[in-house]
Amino acid sequence: MTGAGISMSAGIPDFRSPDTGLYANLARLNLPYAEAVFDISYFRKNPLPFYTLAHELYPGRYRPTITHSFISLLNKKGLLHRLFTQNIDCLEREAGVPDDKIVEAHGSFATQRCIECRTPYSEKEMREHVKKMEVPRCTQSHCQGLVKPDIVFFGEQLPAKFFQEREAPAQADLCFVMGTSLTVQPFASLPSFVDDRVPRVLINLERVGGIGNRSDDVLVLGDCDTGVRKIAEACGWLEELEAEWAL
Ligand code: OAD
Repeated sequence: MTGAGISMSAGIPDFRSPDTGLYANLARLNLPYAEAVFDISYFRKNPLPFYTLAHELYPGRYRPTITHSFISLLNKKGLLHRLFTQNIDCLEREAGVPDDKIVEAHGSFATQRCIECRTPYSEKEMREHVKKMEVPRCTQSHCQGLVKPDIVFFGEQLPAKFFQEREAPAQADLCFVMGTSLTVQPFASLPSFVDDRVPRVLINLERVGGIGNRSDDVLVLGDCDTGVRKIAEACGWLEELEAEWAL
């Protein structure tokens, strides 16, 4: 289970870190409140702040971190059951984690559509608009609705895949939680689906979400790149992990 903290060393800011987080740095967009940039009602009235941010966050500008490579290595070893991510940067896919193992709980920039008639929109066109910080409109002549990437905004339902897969943590025999404040529901409740007797390993700058309250929980507090290197070293995989990252 991952969040924005695993992409920090790629150069993508997280949301809630004081001073450096995205929400602390949105003043220039003149938003009524920081999370409005991802609020569907606000987007309908004023989509430009989102497209200003999308220009900075759009996939293609960033490289996966060694933490993403750690997840990919787990998969190559046949040890990855599911990856639940809140991230919209697509770096897990870029690191080689296959699509069928990933549950992008908050959607991603991978696809886009009209928010009114739901007609899909071309990726090439989207990339062009984001590059110019322009708001794309639906190509259906009767519609002309606003187009947005399939990122889950506040006020929108999570993808069906999240609800189909949300019981998967119950089948895990080890669970990693990395780089997330576990503040946004329903994602934040996923670690509670892990069986009581199964260790949950939190690799994060700070303690979150009550992880540490169960006797088998493990806290690896610090940056996650250091944390995954420590775990890989303990497993005798460090060289393999560095090689995976260098690919
Ligand atoms: P947050 O910004 O809320 O939390 C990031 C967490 O990662 C914090 O606990 C940080 O301390 C920690 N962190 C930061 N850098 C780290 C590093 N290098 N190594 C380890 N930990 C680090 O981000 P999320 O939990 O992902 O929703 O936020 C959840 C959701 O809130 C996002 O998906 C987004 C946002 O509103 C939507 O866009 C719908």
